[in-house]
This record gives sequence, C-alpha cells and structure tokens, in this order.
Amino acid sequence: MLTKTNTVLTDGVKIADLIDVENREVSMRLLSDREVYELELERIFGRTWLLLAHETEIPKSGDFVVRDMGEDQVIVSRDRQNNVNVLLNICPHRGMRVCMTDNGNAPMHRCIYHGWAFRPDGSFIGAPIEREQMHGNIRSKEELGLKKARVQLYGGLVFATWNEDGPTLEEFFGESKFYFDMLLCRTDGGLEVLGPPQRVTMDANWKTAGEQSASDGFHTLTLHRSLMEIGQMGSSSIDDIYANAPGMYGVDISCEQGHSLRCIPAETTFSMVMGSDISKLSPEERLKILPPPGITQELLPQLQKHLSPDQMRLLALSPPQVGGMFPNVGVLFIYAPGRDGNFVGALGLHAFVPKGPDKFEYYTWLFAEKDTPDEVKRAMRVAGIYNIGTTGTIEQDDSDTWPHMSRNSRGMVGRQQTMKYQALTGENKPEGWPGGGYVYDGFTKDDTQWNWWQAYRKLMVD
Ligand code: FES
Ligand SMILES: [Fe+2]
Repeated sequence: MLTKTNTVLTDGVKIADLIDVENREVSMRLLSDREVYELELERIFGRTWLLLAHETEIPKSGDFVVRDMGEDQVIVSRDRQNNVNVLLNICPHRGMRVCMTDNGNAPMHRCIYHGWAFRPDGSFIGAPIEREQMHGNIRSKEELGLKKARVQLYGGLVFATWNEDGPTLEEFFGESKFYFDMLLCRTDGGLEVLGPPQRVTMDANWKTAGEQSASDGFHTLTLHRSLMEIGQMGSSSIDDIYANAPGMYGVDISCEQGHSLRCIPAETTFSMVMGSDISKLSPEERLKILPPPGITQELLPQLQKHLSPDQMRLLALSPPQVGGMFPNVGVLFIYAPGRDGNFVGALGLHAFVPKGPDKFEYYTWLFAEKDTPDEVKRAMRVAGIYNIGTTGTIEQDDSDTWPHMSRNSRGMVGRQQTMKYQALTGENKPEGWPGGGYVYDGFTKDDTQWNWWQAYRKLMVD
C-alpha cells in the first residue's frame, strides 16, 4: 500500500531504485506500472505547472475549452473581467460533470443533474427554485463555487497547477526561461493558435513521449532517416547521411527542473533550407535573410524590443529548435520546406496528457505571431500539419516508438529491463555562450534526457 510519505511499492521495491543513479539506467517497469502511475498523478501532475491551452483559444468573455490536469478534467474559461480561470469540472453538489462539451461560449455553466449554476469565474450562482434554497443552509454560496486551480499565463499559454504553495511559473521554468522567451514571447501581439489543437489518443505511457521530448537528438540519424533519404532534411546522399545528418552537432541545454532545448547552429539550417554559406554574415544580416518562422521583415524590429541583445545573438547564431518542458510538453520550432519546396517554418507545442499507465492524449497546437500576415499564417499551418504531430512527416516517426516501448514494458521479463543513459557529452559551455542552465556543446547525447529522469525521480521520491 502506498502512503503519502512512503515510496515503496506493494512488492517492496522502492521507486528510487527504479532509477539507478549510479549506472544511469531506468527500469522499464516505470512505463506501465499502475501503482507508479497513481503516484505520478499526485506527485507529478498534482505538483507541477501544466500546459492546458493558449489564451487565443478563448478570446471572448464566456469562451471555454475543456482540458485535463492529469486525470482531473477542468474548464478553462474567460470571465467578464477578461481573466482566465481553470475550474475543476466537478459539480460540488453530487459530483456530476458540469460542462458536457469540449468547447464553446456560455455565460454560465449549469449542471444537468439538479441545475446548480456557476459563472465562468467558477462562483456559484444558485440552485433552481431559489426560495427553497436547494443548496441548504450549512455552506454559504461563496463556499460552493467550482474548485479553482492556480493559473499563470506565459506568452499567452495557459498554465495551471493544484500546488498552491509551490514555485511560481517563472521559478518553475528556471534558467530555461531565457531560451523559451526567444520562441514564445518575442512580438507585441504575441502568438496565436492556428485553429484548435489536434488530439489523438496514443496506446503508450506519457513518459515515452515526455522523455523523448527532453531533446533526444541521437534518434534523428536512424528514426528520421527517411527524411534525409527523400531530401527533406539534410543531405539526400546515402553516403553523406551519417556524416552530415542535420543538427547532430549543436548545443543542448537543460536545467534542474527537467526542461530542455536543442540549439542548432544557424549554419546547419542555412545550408539545409537555403543551401548557402553564412559564416561571414553578422547576426543581424543572418536574421534578415532567414528570420525565425513567422517573423516578417516588418516584425523584425519587435524582436529587438522584446529580446535582449544576448537572446537576439543566439537566435541568429544558434536558435533553440526542439525540446520540451517538464513534465509533458514537447516544443518544435522548425525551418522547413513547404509543399512547393519553398522555405517556410512552423512552431508547434505538444502536451502528453495521461489517460492511464498505457494511454495518453497527444495534443498538437500550431502557432504563428498574431501580427504576421494571413498568408504567412496559412503557410505555417500547412507546414505544421505537413511536418508536426501524427500527420507530420517528421513527427510521425517519433510517435512510432512510444507504443512499442510501452508494450514491451508489460512483459514479465520486459518490465525488468532497463533504458540506458550512459553516453554523456558532459557540461561544456562554448566561450561567450549567453544563456544559463546546464549547457552541452557537441554531439547530442543522453545528458538532457537523463536530467529529465532526475527531475522526475526527485518529485517522485521527495
Ligand atoms: S450534481 Fe450538479 S446539481 Fe446536483
Ligand atoms: Fe524526432
């Protein structure tokens, strides 16, 4: 039996021992164990900040979307004061689901069971037949609102947590915020979603995707090899693939909270998408020729306004392109060929929302700067669908692995096997590197994924 302070599973195995720190091995049991999963709902999903939505999904007063924090369903709603609220979708009367649809606009949410009604800020309006006072006389109306989570917005992204006393969102991001800002907080109007998120249920444990999104780059060589073979990414010459696979050499960064990003030298990107040598160009000239996807020449001055000179320089020389936010968010920012062969880019975020030890819901949001022209938004949307998520030529490869790893962890022998993180680059910051966190310059290895597991272990064991 698990208790709050005890991290020993019913068969006597300690959770801490399932992540072997000395040998850097992780037990596959963690990918399918029901008891571990129940503990994760409390210690991971009950404690960390979770990405639920972007505020442009709910632009008007009364707009709402229904999402999940772990297995707790919540209503993300905008109230009359323009605030974003995250409300537990459970009626305080007898526990019925209050909001029965996935999204919409409603001046109030009324429970279909006995009719208790709530405002978009969660406050209790009343029960039918007011004179009969059907909410009784023990609790005041103020006590009968929907349970509210703590909410913080970042770059318009809606994060929430049940952890009232935990760190702020800024503290949670730690040193990785410097890098995330470069992708998510860089123009006056900020980002907007390019339609509702794609949602697909995967037969896999959420950690297979979470850990891979901790900047696993090594798999590019083999899992994404078809992209190189058809010439969509890097060299199309088979002989060159292993020598010139795109982005294998770069700078991986992460932090003790488990977030990570891979910064890929702009030279690689330029030669990949433009076929040109930019080694002699200044950072300003580089940004002008190949600005980040969605940033037009007109929007370039806004970058300067929102980002520091150090962030600008990094964006020009070695922009962060792929990574994740602990525990269950993937980030992808790509310079990709469009269907017509012209260069276009895409910015996407994923959430891996647990639905049991062997299922998760795979969310994909696509974004563009709000102030970029409509034709750029359209092109980015198409590029996103073409490259990202289960429809995407890049990421459909990634999702191929998750169900197999999860399936393998269910066997009597399989669950005793380990995943290995023994190839490390080791901390090594290039001279003049402007950002903080743990910095790994060189061939992409296991450092950031191992940090992800250590962040997981700390939360599960503490
Ligand atoms: S359960 Fe909602 S009003 Fe009774
Ligand atoms: Fe991948």
